[in-house]
Amino acid sequence: MSGDRVPADITEETITEAVVDSFENAMDPRLRECLAALVCHVHAAVREVEPTIKEWEAAVRFLTETGHTCDSTRQEFVLLSDVLGISALVENINHRKTPGATEATVLGPFHMVDSPVRALGDSIDEVGEAVPCLVTGSVTSVDGTPLAGASVDVWQADEDGFYDVQRPGQRPAGNGRGLFTTDERGRFWFTTVVPRYYPIPTDGPVGLFLAKTGRHPFRPAHIHFIAATDGHVPVTTHIFVEGSPYLDSDAVFAVKHSLVRAFEQVDDPAMAAEHDIANPFFHADVDLVLDRAEQHPATT
Ligand code: BEZ
Ligand code: FE
Repeated sequence: MSGDRVPADITEETITEAVVDSFENAMDPRLRECLAALVCHVHAAVREVEPTIKEWEAAVRFLTETGHTCDSTRQEFVLLSDVLGISALVENINHRKTPGATEATVLGPFHMVDSPVRALGDSIDEVGEAVPCLVTGSVTSVDGTPLAGASVDVWQADEDGFYDVQRPGQRPAGNGRGLFTTDERGRFWFTTVVPRYYPIPTDGPVGLFLAKTGRHPFRPAHIHFIAATDGHVPVTTHIFVEGSPYLDSDAVFAVKHSLVRAFEQVDDPAMAAEHDIANPFFHADVDLVLDRAEQHPATT
């Protein structure tokens, strides 16, 4: 060592720059950019709050438990991103749309890769214990052109606030789900039940996080939609039930007021008979407006 220059100690003041510099040879410049920003912001937070060793260990333990709670059907890290508003922020950043296009919101963990294919007019409620709800809607392009042959993937909680996967054995798989194709005028319609508000899963670390921070776990009542067709940007969104509790305090920060719809009570025996449902019933109308793909080439 004698004669060698002793490198300067890395100190509280220089450590951020040292870590950022360590990414200099990263092959992917975008990875370098993201990691540098992450390190700068996390170091700034550490400097601000000056955690004790015990606090830092508790944070690591929390993240470890979050990882251990993940499996092929449960993604606790996504749930953590949801309750921290990160999922909604990423969604908003990636879907800055042409005015008039339907706003996007989070996908959530209850989407199935393959929803049951259903015909227009079918019921997605395979149980039939609650007041029926007729959902009518259309898929159009931002210029108003009806989009025939568009796919409309729908999934929702039931009248008690549970998805089919949360009630195995009590509800048939595929209950509350359907994959529809719009008709020649871009229209779709199906029957269902009015979904209830529900809590996100609270039996893992994210539930503990909500309890410790004095937050409730509820999402306002909603129906999920993904509408897609060629030449347009697919939209992943919800329609929220007007008047539902928690519209102003969604646990995952995903409410957009443009997505709230009235679910009106209707007393119309002829219309009920036409849709093969009991009278009276609820009715909601849903317009899904898609951006043209050439306006947002990166998102298609
Ligand atoms: C959902 O709406 O299905 C959902 C979204 C985020 C977290 C949990 C559930
Ligand atoms: Fe949901």
